[in-house]
Amino acid sequence: MGSQSSNEFTARWAQHDLGEVVVSAKEVHDRVLELGRQITSDYSESPPLLVGVLKGAINFMSDLMRAIELPVEVDFMAVSSYGAATKTSGVVRIVKDLDVDLLDREVLIVEDVVDSGLTLNYLRQYLGARNPRSLEVCALLLKEGEQRVEQSLKYVGFTIPSDFVVGYGLDVNERYRNLDAIYTFTGKA
Ligand code: IMP
Ligand code: MG
Repeated sequence: MGSQSSNEFTARWAQHDLGEVVVSAKEVHDRVLELGRQITSDYSESPPLLVGVLKGAINFMSDLMRAIELPVEVDFMAVSSYGAATKTSGVVRIVKDLDVDLLDREVLIVEDVVDSGLTLNYLRQYLGARNPRSLEVCALLLKEGEQRVEQSLKYVGFTIPSDFVVGYGLDVNERYRNLDAIYTFTGKA
């Protein structure tokens, strides 16, 4: 967990909406490198297809793919489970599907945050039906005690409290994805 040192809290332009630093930019950076090393070693025989979940996973995907020293392929899906609110609706809608075939591929879903787990649960079933050789998940954040669906996550960056957070890809009404650190959101959604 990061502390709110003046060094850390450089996002003055967003400060009125932000609470404490939940994960600092340095902590994110270091952990992403570790995850990259782990994935490199686990998939050395068969490089995975990384499937990023738009838009929240953009920052994470961008850094993670460069931390993996294998010829990975990258594709994206867009799903919508939230609308504009900060609580899940439980309804998942595919907004953009994959461009590639999953048959016999090692597929690694790259997610920003697992909250209720409903989005991931839906994605797993949806992608699993296309007969990949393997289907695993790399989630940057896992919210403690929030999962309504049991999840087995192969890689987790950080387990965090259940507060709503923004930054490093995570948004509130499409804002604050461009923060380098992850903060609690204290403004009005
Ligand atoms: P779930 O279906 O409840 O697990 O929610 C997953 C999706 O909701 C994530 O991929 C995010 O897009 C969004 N989400 C959940 N918690 C947060 C948060 O704290 N900040 C921003 N987005 C969130
Ligand atoms: Mg979102």
